[in-house]
Amino acid sequence: MPWIVGVSGASGTPYAAAVLRALLAAGEAVDLVVSRASRLTLLDETGLPFRDAHWQDDLAEWLARGADGKPGTFDVDVSGVRHWRAGDLAAGPSSGSYPARGMIVVPASTACVAGVALGLSKDLLQRAASVTLKERRPLVVSVREAPLNGQTLRHLVTLDDAGASVVPASPAFYAGATHIQDLVDFVAGRVLDAAGVTHGLYRRWRGDLGGGLTDGTRGD
Ligand SMILES: Cc1cc2nc3c(=O)[nH]c(=O)nc-3n(C[C@H](O)[C@H](O)[C@H](O)COP(=O)(O)O)c2cc1C
Repeated sequence: MPWIVGVSGASGTPYAAAVLRALLAAGEAVDLVVSRASRLTLLDETGLPFRDAHWQDDLAEWLARGADGKPGTFDVDVSGVRHWRAGDLAAGPSSGSYPARGMIVVPASTACVAGVALGLSKDLLQRAASVTLKERRPLVVSVREAPLNGQTLRHLVTLDDAGASVVPASPAFYAGATHIQDLVDFVAGRVLDAAGVTHGLYRRWRGDLGGGLTDGTRGD
């Protein structure tokens, strides 16, 4: 059964790429929904298009990029991905009878958070997230916005009450990060922790203060 991954139009397309790479590396099948707005953030943050008609080529090029924008950083086989158009409300993930492990929304825009909290289903991404909640499957929402206003905070509480895991896209600095990719992978790793997917994206806390400085994960 696949994980549904929704990419919405918040800043943070490198987080989505890191989650997708790790799911594929873990041998998970992925159903991908890329919102219309996220194509603007992808273009802004990577210079790459995401076209429905050429999604496989565009996805392969995107996932090969490092968080620093360098092409060809990763070698990724995207054959485990099934793509659904964001406007296709007849797509598989729009129904609870479609088999799925759960859904990860990364990054999640405040508009997407609002839409899911209110059950708007304005596109396939929001519909699939609402379906995930109604089917009592795991839903992980990695919101990216700053500052957060009361309206969004209330929507996030609604999602938490409904059983979703809210994992803010906020990297921590205890894991010995030296590059942008390390910070991105930390967030992606915490997202996958919430989904229960095995990965090796970041150095876990081991109870030793300063461990990230001394165990070789951090260079000089
Ligand atoms: C370059 C760019 C960056 C954006 N960054 C954010 C962001 O970090 N967080 C957010 O909530 N919205 C952000 N937005 C606004 C969303 O894209 C907008 O609210 C959109 O309607 C979200 O639609 P979606 O949830 O269907 O993807 C950004 C928009 C652009 C063009």
